[in-house]
Amino acid sequence: MDDNMMEYNVSKLTSNLYLLRFKDTSTKYFEGLWEIPEGIMYNSYVYTSNEGAIVFDTWKMGLGNEFLEALRNIVDLRDVRYIVVHHMEPDHSGILKTLVEKADPIVLGHPLVKNMAESFYSVSMKFRPVKDGEEIVFDDEKIIFYHTPWLHWPETIMSYITSWKILLTCDAFGSYGVFKEVWADELSGEDYERYLWYAKKYFANVIGIHYEWVVKNLEKLVSRGVTPNLVLPSHGLLLRGDPLDYMYKKYKSWGHGEPEQGKTLLIYTSMYGFVERTVKIIREYFSGLNQDIDMIGFTDSNRPSISDVIGKAFDAENIILVSATYDADLYPLMKHIASLITRKTPRGKKVAIIAQYGWGGKAGKILEEMMSTQGFKVVGVVEFKAGEEERYRDKIIGLIESLKK
Ligand SMILES: Cc1cc2nc3c(=O)[nH]c(=O)nc-3n(C[C@H](O)[C@H](O)[C@H](O)COP(=O)(O)O)c2cc1C
Repeated sequence: MDDNMMEYNVSKLTSNLYLLRFKDTSTKYFEGLWEIPEGIMYNSYVYTSNEGAIVFDTWKMGLGNEFLEALRNIVDLRDVRYIVVHHMEPDHSGILKTLVEKADPIVLGHPLVKNMAESFYSVSMKFRPVKDGEEIVFDDEKIIFYHTPWLHWPETIMSYITSWKILLTCDAFGSYGVFKEVWADELSGEDYERYLWYAKKYFANVIGIHYEWVVKNLEKLVSRGVTPNLVLPSHGLLLRGDPLDYMYKKYKSWGHGEPEQGKTLLIYTSMYGFVERTVKIIREYFSGLNQDIDMIGFTDSNRPSISDVIGKAFDAENIILVSATYDADLYPLMKHIASLITRKTPRGKKVAIIAQYGWGGKAGKILEEMMSTQGFKVVGVVEFKAGEEERYRDKIIGLIESLKK
């Protein structure tokens, strides 16, 4: 069977470390929220030895049969000595109960894991909490556990397999997308670019809210001498060589909230086309300057992916929001998007707001408050009645130009 058609695959990474990977092409909305037409992969890792096996994370809830089938390719379930729970989100811990019931291993995890697992899954297990920096020696291999809070939940930990310098990072360094390749360095050209975009989008959607914790955790790992040759995340492709160096640099830059210099993103909503007429003025202005800017419009015939919007907004330097008053409030889709931008992307971006109304404008003020109270620099608001965009042309262009100051 073509590898792409298989739901899961098992790959040998080193003499005693295996990847168990499920390719999920049926989830449409990751976390019930983020559009993922590209799919997502769940990575579990199995370390085998003469003393038995360690399973690091599992797959999404509901994939128990497939997981056990994949695992049995590598070990007898009775030989599973430990399960390491890096993170309790059910896309990784979803098969914990099944595995505990079949194999009765010791479960290792952050102290918070016990309560969470018991309440999520009504599981009774032999649990051993691990401290930050605690190590186990297993068949001569030293494995160190590090607490890495907020990458992506408070209980998240990473495991470092010291002799191989392998860091299992769970959600950090993960990505969307379903590929037949295992390692990012097996991709080239457009496929590699596609992977990089999925990794950025995943970062913005999932970890973006805690971007400052990326720096704290990476610095902590460096200070503890963790310098991995291989980074194995729980989603997407695995990292070594150039892609690993590149993603490490990107994580530092995203973690510092650094924008891509000069990148402007325009997001608009338009029910009947009035707002689109205003957007046309802005489009003409930029094309007159020979500048390309990304414009994403939500209309009666176009519903872009909000996961893409947040992926693109994350490293934008400037954001232009154009929307309308709706039922004496801000248009609901724009409210949702603006709220996600304030929560998921770095503060300090410059924002220009243009709003329209029929008889009493509310949208401009609401958007301005939403953005400025969350630390975004609102450079100005231009608000006018539907159909008056030509009268406001100079003000609209003046506002856009003030983004450059
Ligand atoms: C369903 C609906 C509700 C609206 N509610 C308000 C409102 O509460 N107050 C107001 O001043 N204008 C309201 N408007 C007018 C719009 O804000 C105005 O026409 C705006 O320019 C719409 O641009 P668009 O059609 O491109 O989205 C409403 C329009 C629609 C279609």
